[in-house]
Amino acid sequence: MSILISGGAGYIGSHTAKSLSRAGFEPVVYDNLSTGHRWAVKWGPLVEADLSDKASLKQALKQYNVTAAIHFAAHAYVGESVLDPRRYFENNVINTLHLLNTLMDSGINHIVFSSSCAVYGEPQSFPISESHVKLPVNPYGDSKLFIERVLDWYGRAYGLRWAALRYFNAAGADPSGELGEVHNPETHLVPRLIEAALGRLESVEIFGVDYPTEDGTAVRDYVHVLDLAEAHVAAVQHLLSGGESFSANLGTGHGVSVREVITAVERVSDSTINAKTAPRRVGDPPVLIADPTNAERILDWHPRFSSLDNIVNSAWDWHCRIPSLRNI
Ligand code: UFG
Repeated sequence: MSILISGGAGYIGSHTAKSLSRAGFEPVVYDNLSTGHRWAVKWGPLVEADLSDKASLKQALKQYNVTAAIHFAAHAYVGESVLDPRRYFENNVINTLHLLNTLMDSGINHIVFSSSCAVYGEPQSFPISESHVKLPVNPYGDSKLFIERVLDWYGRAYGLRWAALRYFNAAGADPSGELGEVHNPETHLVPRLIEAALGRLESVEIFGVDYPTEDGTAVRDYVHVLDLAEAHVAAVQHLLSGGESFSANLGTGHGVSVREVITAVERVSDSTINAKTAPRRVGDPPVLIADPTNAERILDWHPRFSSLDNIVNSAWDWHCRIPSLRNI
């Protein structure tokens, strides 16, 4: 059975392609390679095209006899979305509408959507459950929430079956060393700390040390990319076996502070990181922790790889390999 993976050459998409292949599906990656990587497509064909190109999309769905889709392709820098919302709404909303409409026109009624904890905005209570009020505080989160609403209306009107998976903080890498995180620019905490530990970054800023948390730094729910990948496979299987549409948080229910991540990276790398205190980053909530019970209940999903040590160890191994991968 072929599954279209838009953005399958990216970080979470490529790990999901591998997991899908292991589960017996054929992942068909549809990616314009604007941020994805050709070397990350190894488990099925790559269609190099844009989501705005409806003809290519239609042709790919037909050629590979696609049964369902997982939609990752999106712009995903929160700060950039505030500065350039047009870019975000064009890609994350308009192109997603092209995809949804083309899927339905081609008779494909099952889609797993890559959403985000950014749909909640400033958390009012902890842990955050799916019913938490949704008031995004940046265009990125708003673009994701808008598509969740479209999915809901399309489901009611046209019978589309969907799953919206709201990631908390994705991190870590495939333990085999063949896949991992490569963003340009890299803004995320774990890879930046590792690059600093490897001497490729002079220092890393700690954005905010005056938060109302135990050590004053922001707390996040880090989830291993392999656990995210497994959740996507389970969601596809759920929908294809007739399961109801749903939204679910993907996180561990456990929070880790910036300082705790720094300590873990220093431990794994056996080095001292030059971490400099900096003001809070605009739009960063003090604490984001998931209530993952929906994913547990609906998908029988339990994070297996998401201990902090496992995340940092796998990311460390990957970053040690990256210089040689740049030549691929
Ligand atoms: N941080 C630093 N220094 C850095 C980078 C990050 O202190 O150099 C801090 C951030 O301020 C934050 C934490 O580390 O408190 C994690 O930051 P990341 O940039 O790694 O991740 P975010 O929490 O900003 O982003 C995640 C997802 C987004 C999602 C967002 C919702 O990656 O897709 O949460 O707030 F939109």
